[in-house]
Amino acid sequence: MSTKTKIAVIGLGNIGKVVASNLVKSNREVILASHKIEDANTFAAQLGKLAKAADVKTAITEADVVVLSVWFNAIQELLKQYAAELQGKIIIDPSNPIAPDGNGGFKKIIDANESAGQILKELQPAGAKLVKALGSLGAGSLASAAFQNPTNVLFYATDEKSITNTIEELITNVGFDPVNLGGIDQSIRMEVFGELHEFGALGKPVTRAEFNQSAKS
Ligand SMILES: NC(=O)c1ccc[n+]([C@@H]2O[C@H](COP(=O)([O-])OP(=O)(O)OC[C@H]3O[C@@H](n4cnc5c(N)ncnc54)[C@H](OP(=O)(O)O)[C@@H]3O)[C@@H](O)[C@H]2O)c1
Repeated sequence: MSTKTKIAVIGLGNIGKVVASNLVKSNREVILASHKIEDANTFAAQLGKLAKAADVKTAITEADVVVLSVWFNAIQELLKQYAAELQGKIIIDPSNPIAPDGNGGFKKIIDANESAGQILKELQPAGAKLVKALGSLGAGSLASAAFQNPTNVLFYATDEKSITNTIEELITNVGFDPVNLGGIDQSIRMEVFGELHEFGALGKPVTRAEFNQSAKS
């Protein structure tokens, strides 16, 4: 990913704000968009001159990499609504297909053996390249565990081998060490309840050495 690669962050909640802030810490420009342009304007002003606000359509059109930091159902809608604008773009899906279970926890809203990544792949606009990434940690850890020494890992999965350099640079710029899990069919491993999600078996942010150790045991 060259510094000319344009990144849009769509959705400025827990995850979108951290992703955008971390990118700015790495001196990357970001285009910010959300439901309400006022939210994008306010947050762009907080982040300073590397951030600019736009409406969703403009942000997608101007970007090369589009981070869809909205809930799984909203990603499904955005992929349909902006199918034309998303053609040829790299789309980052951080989603976890979950909803409150009514007992203070969360339940999966798709079948146990399904992943959001694989379902979204079916909706991928022509020529777009879907990547599962940036969702394997909770938003708190995405902020606090970034830019550490030694670096903590973030996992990604994609069927698009031609863009792995771009994705790895993106994850590095978000403050983490990228680990490629393989194709999009590996998404389930890093989604909530998967063995590589912070709230799954892994249990916390880990370095590459810790990840390698856990993979052996
Ligand atoms: N929170 C976590 O710790 C965490 C961890 C890993 C992965 N994730 C995943 O990351 C994604 C975002 O989670 P979050 O916690 O950041 O959610 P959130 O705090 O609810 O933020 C979602 C943002 O998206 C905006 N939005 C919703 N629908 C939109 C649309 N159609 N067009 C434009 N903007 C839209 C919302 O705007 P309004 O408020 O105006 O509706 C809000 O700014 C989810 O898929 C989640 O599963 C979250």
